[in-house]
Amino acid sequence: MSGTTIQDHDDDHVDDRTRQVIRQLTDGADRLSFPLPRTAPFGPPAEYAELRSKCPVAPAMLHGKKSWLISKYDDVREALQSHSLSADMSHPDYPLSPGMKASLAASGPGAGSFLKMDPPVHDDLRRMVTRDFMIKRVEALRPKIQELVDGLIDDMLAGPKPADLFQALATPMPNTVICWLLGVPQSDHAFFQDRTTYFFRRDVPAEVALRKSKELNEYVYGLIDDRIADPDTDPEADILSRLVVEQYREGKIDRRTVQGIAFLMLVAGHETTGNMSALGALALLQHPEQYKALGDDPSLARGAVEELMRYLTINNEPNWRVAKEDTVIGGQKIKAGEGVVPLTFSANRDEGHYTDPDVLDIRRPDRDHLGFGYGIHQCLGQPLARVELQVFFSTLTRRIPTLRLAVPLEEVPFKTNADIYGVNALPVTW
Ligand code: HEM
Repeated sequence: MSGTTIQDHDDDHVDDRTRQVIRQLTDGADRLSFPLPRTAPFGPPAEYAELRSKCPVAPAMLHGKKSWLISKYDDVREALQSHSLSADMSHPDYPLSPGMKASLAASGPGAGSFLKMDPPVHDDLRRMVTRDFMIKRVEALRPKIQELVDGLIDDMLAGPKPADLFQALATPMPNTVICWLLGVPQSDHAFFQDRTTYFFRRDVPAEVALRKSKELNEYVYGLIDDRIADPDTDPEADILSRLVVEQYREGKIDRRTVQGIAFLMLVAGHETTGNMSALGALALLQHPEQYKALGDDPSLARGAVEELMRYLTINNEPNWRVAKEDTVIGGQKIKAGEGVVPLTFSANRDEGHYTDPDVLDIRRPDRDHLGFGYGIHQCLGQPLARVELQVFFSTLTRRIPTLRLAVPLEEVPFKTNADIYGVNALPVTW
């Protein structure tokens, strides 16, 4: 179905096995929940390879909406940069899950959350914070991030064994960095970390999660109001200060939008980096030669991060789109109003693009993975995530060469069915 031939909008050519695969991905009677479970535990859902070889642009029903699953590298890139597709969740034809529908109905489209917006508003809002993530600015943070990671590792090594690497290192690292960016005072870091952790947890009663999230919300509004009230707020101090001085005071955005942008940083940057750190550490531990090589040679860190991003692709395909107009992706006609699901994990394991895609190789020369997305929504925070992860993996492997899992791999609690893949805990010893 991909290539130059343009297919009409029917699925008569799809064979029975492929039809079954497609049904499993959809709301059919024998539906598997989406995202599909990963295999073994770093592998993509087994069905992805089948889709790539048999039906790279596959028709599917997603939450009652006619949609297309895009599984090959080139087609996923084409979809993610297509101006005919919209990321706007409030679009009437967006293939919303019941959960997304409920939260949209309860709180309306998130002001400031430009991840789910289209141009021109997306571009205007994104531009307001682009400066904070420029490579030069982020590189200036590297020594501070190094000091942070060293301090966290010191604390873990001084504590009891086994330790939970997820709680001891992977969660506090991005949390502290977000605190710096947003301007959360040091004295409030513990409060902030507690509330954000609850915000992302799925295993607590709904009323507790709601209370903690309300407290976090009120706290962020408090930070914004302090800056609004202070005539001497320094726009260079942190993201919130600059948004208040350069945007809010100029009447370009309201208070709710300042809060929405702050929350987007939090949601997009916290759980992703935390899970990537813990899952990446686990993947390296499963490949001891590569763990040791990285510890011996920090110059491998850049390539290691790119390879782990490709190999693990922690975002469980939340970057759905809807066609704003009739268009063609991967040679397939897609009609206005139909959903499009670019499967980035599948693209990152596409044998048509990568040699031995299912092998983790930190020396792999390819750096063109789609783990940070592609096109106008490509991850704004990627320079920061890269520095955090490079410092994290190179320091961990250098400082604790004897690190090992404290439980059998099968007992590691993986986050199944979450938007961001990872672990709930990573018991380690050394
Ligand atoms: C390993 C860590 C990270 C991963 C895997 C990741 C992944 C992604 C992906 C896949 C997208 C695109 C989603 C789409 O196309 O719909 C995205 C967007 C975004 N990310 Fe990240 N991200 C990470 C870290 C961060 C950090 C540290 C920040 C900032 C503090 C951040 C902020 C954002 C923002 C603001 C967007 C929206 C960009 C836009 O819509 O223009 N991310 N991220």
